[in-house]
Amino acid sequence: MSKLEDIKAMAKTRGFFWPSAEIYKSSAGLWSYGPLGVALKQNLISEWRKAITGDMLEIDGSQIMPAAVFNSSGHLSSFQDPITECKKCGSFRADKLIEKVTGKIIPEALPAKEFDKLITKHKVSCPNCKGKLSNVEMFNLMVKTGLGTSRSEENYLRPETCQSIFVDFPQVYRSMRGKLPLGISQIGKAFRNEISPRQSILRTREFNQAEIEVFFNPKSKFEKFSEVKKQKLPLMIKNKINTITVSDAVTKKILVEIEAYYLAQYVKFFQSLSIPLKNIRLRQVGDDEKPFYAKSAWDLEVNTSLGWIEVCAHHNRGDHDLKSHSKGSGKDLSIIDVDKKVLPHVWESSMGIDRLLFCILDLSFVEDKVGGEKRSLLKFAPHIAPYKVAVFPLVKKDGLKEKSQEVFNTLSNLYPCFLDISGSIGKRYRRQDEVGTPFCLTIDYDTMKDNTVTVRERDSTKQSRIKISELVNYLCKKVM
Ligand code: GLY
Repeated sequence: MSKLEDIKAMAKTRGFFWPSAEIYKSSAGLWSYGPLGVALKQNLISEWRKAITGDMLEIDGSQIMPAAVFNSSGHLSSFQDPITECKKCGSFRADKLIEKVTGKIIPEALPAKEFDKLITKHKVSCPNCKGKLSNVEMFNLMVKTGLGTSRSEENYLRPETCQSIFVDFPQVYRSMRGKLPLGISQIGKAFRNEISPRQSILRTREFNQAEIEVFFNPKSKFEKFSEVKKQKLPLMIKNKINTITVSDAVTKKILVEIEAYYLAQYVKFFQSLSIPLKNIRLRQVGDDEKPFYAKSAWDLEVNTSLGWIEVCAHHNRGDHDLKSHSKGSGKDLSIIDVDKKVLPHVWESSMGIDRLLFCILDLSFVEDKVGGEKRSLLKFAPHIAPYKVAVFPLVKKDGLKEKSQEVFNTLSNLYPCFLDISGSIGKRYRRQDEVGTPFCLTIDYDTMKDNTVTVRERDSTKQSRIKISELVNYLCKKVM
């Protein structure tokens, strides 16, 4: 089995995620998160808020928006992928099929006829039955809703959460007495009619995004830049990785200050989740590959068992959004900054939460040997683990169960804990290793005499004896 298949099986059995509505035949690319998946996702979101959003303002816009929004943004005309069909097996993304055969990245923005030429040149056929493929057509990824009673009402599910931020910018700016640079953040769902959803939660039709849109005056200096000057950025330009400081990237005019600042913040954030720097790169997205709204684009990619995966797209969107929404709505969205009228430009960092979660699972999911016995574990950094501590009574009798309940009650007021009273201690350790709980506490007969417990660490399996009165302090430092 491939590691992807192992992760899917592990995620399902242990309660992280599984295909939606499995008891019926459901559309591909839709997934449900179980209790441990929700806990992990919430922890990632909370770390993201701490590391990235700082003094930004957070909104929660609606997921359904009128067609007018996407006419102005350009999504109704330009948000499309090349599609080709095998009469027997269904539709595929033409660019991905050609990439598989040639081993080269194919820009998705080529005209349909160019894809036809590449299909003929490289003899690309259906990946299932090797049958002939149809001519390529451009397929719009927007999901239309049936909302409303009038035929003239046309609404879509948003394909990226940020459109809510752009159309709500004047409202947020007014009600919060905004000043540039102004960061607005949002966590929410977005929807795309992906032609071939695949690789579990990596390419889905409904997904979770955590986005920041920073509105700035392109003529002003970006003051916060000096805070990160010395940080290293693994920049990948034309297939070559060059790790240079933020300061050098700006001096060499590879990045402007605001770009360098946020790229540095994200690299630091990813490292704080225990993703090593060697598994992170910032790939400059070429002109033929970048989205239609971007002036410049950098993808933060993480190296996993499936190769490099794009997790966070960074775009300098210039004035594309506010200009097009001003035009489309007939409302002037410019503001007064430093006594002058200005239409703010936008820096965007758009992170796929599901993709981040997948990468964390992929990198944490390992096997090792303890006492000659194989075990499988999730080596989550303690601050993102769904459960921080598990509590076990050695046996259920002689007051050990009650004592465990007491310890559990104290700790579970502070962070998520798990009480497990059944099975051998070895089995209980294994179950917690498998869901990534960093610490297990065992209450035994000595506990009843001297009020100490055994604390066992997940990765090293090292055990130490700690007084119950010191537990809160001891664990808080390690798991928060
Ligand atoms: N907002 C940019 C994206 O969804 O990729």
